[in-house]
Amino acid sequence: MVGLGPKPPFPRKGTGTLDNLPKDLRNEIEHLERLFTVDGAKLKEVTNHFVHELEKGLSVQGGSIPMNPTWVMSFPDGNETGTYLALDMGGTNLRVCQVTLTETKSEFDIIQSKYRMPEELKTGDAEELWEYIADCLMQFIETHHGDPTKLDALPLGFTFSYPATQNYIDEGILQRWTKGFDIAGVEGHNVVPMFEAALQRRGVPIKLTALINDTTGTLIASAYTDPKMRIGCIFGTGCNAAYMENCGSIPKLAHMNLPPDMPMAINCEWGAFDNEHKVLPRTPYDVIIDKDSPRPGQQSFEKMVAGLYLGEIFRLVLVDLHDNQEIKIFPGQDIAKLRKAYSLDSSFLSLIEEDPFENLSETFELFQTKLGLTPTGPELELIRRTAELIGTRAARLSACGVAAISKKKGYKQCHVGADGSVFNKYPNFKARGAQALREILDWPEKADPKEDDPIEILAAEDGSGVGAALIAALTMQRIKQGNMHGILHPENFRTTEPLPA
Ligand code: BGC
Repeated sequence: MVGLGPKPPFPRKGTGTLDNLPKDLRNEIEHLERLFTVDGAKLKEVTNHFVHELEKGLSVQGGSIPMNPTWVMSFPDGNETGTYLALDMGGTNLRVCQVTLTETKSEFDIIQSKYRMPEELKTGDAEELWEYIADCLMQFIETHHGDPTKLDALPLGFTFSYPATQNYIDEGILQRWTKGFDIAGVEGHNVVPMFEAALQRRGVPIKLTALINDTTGTLIASAYTDPKMRIGCIFGTGCNAAYMENCGSIPKLAHMNLPPDMPMAINCEWGAFDNEHKVLPRTPYDVIIDKDSPRPGQQSFEKMVAGLYLGEIFRLVLVDLHDNQEIKIFPGQDIAKLRKAYSLDSSFLSLIEEDPFENLSETFELFQTKLGLTPTGPELELIRRTAELIGTRAARLSACGVAAISKKKGYKQCHVGADGSVFNKYPNFKARGAQALREILDWPEKADPKEDDPIEILAAEDGSGVGAALIAALTMQRIKQGNMHGILHPENFRTTEPLPA
């Protein structure tokens, strides 16, 4: 017979009772709770400081948060058309897309190829990186456009998701690598000529029309289909946001005499928030992450909330509790695998938080298969609670950034487009973030649970594909209308028409 057999236990919600735990473990859990819990009052304090730092970043003197003007100077209205190439160099994959913005309002077609970004390239040689990217582009063009020697140069939007100074939309001076990248000879330089030189060497028929941050792409792509969009966020391997400012509120651009009400998308690079360690509730584990990273002292906020670091924070807690002679979890077991830095990514935490079983049997299996460890029942409880604490802290602190931009701009009601692995895949991230926004912004309880929140963080449209295409289209449009601000190579745009669909 089919379908008989032991019934699975009831699905588990949240932490089970900790009452039956041995006292030392219970104490330890309470200690971790004190370290990782960020209450409503602290969220407000962080948000207020955040608002101040956003403003400082726009000032002439500047601050930790770069607040980079992007020369994306309007929202789309849904009527943009044309076919564009887009390249996305994210933290994990490389993606090449061809995006067609169709005649039907707010609709698009997309074809794309994904390539894994080999791990060794992230800390290797600059030339190898650009050559690898050029090869991927060439492969895509050969597949979709035929013989490259017979083609005119195709226009491309390059989504380069690292902090870059943009005096022009077709320029990007890398401020610093983030997300574990560490390639010599690129920081402080404009990446566009390096990229173009590799294309030339390989004979890839492409000209770059715009360099784009993934957050700006997300903002613009989401606004294409939803006019209430005001902020674009990435909660993924890294963490950041972009929003539309008016030039009159950007003192560091005052020398350019731009009309004060002219819009300008700002790539905040908020991962650098609180590099001075004034307000974020850092734990000893956050201090270690920073110290051992390729760029100590940088990206303080990002290192507490982004996907690249969540698994590592968790790993450091467990190693500490094993080495700690008073508690000593996993006594007598070989924790060699757990000792390997960055061996657990945020999907490992997701699996723990998703374990539906009362006895945490999936977590048990995960530890056996992945780490060769056999946790006891109480240890499993500690593991689950630790994952929840780290995931909850990330969601709540992330909400401070959204609240800060909303406060700065006076947005009482709007939509925020969000993308990235943590936002899309980490269990409860959205609900925890929404709850934190409620606490920070003092929203009253909902009369009806189905009611929308005043500020809602929603899944975004594809920023690095559709967003890049839209930015290329908007830039061509504004050049035609005579707005030439922030364009280094207008000739690339003048002679460029969108590809035939
Ligand atoms: C980068 C940003 C990017 C974010 C999300 C951060 O590490 O500095 O430019 O937007 O990651 O990808």
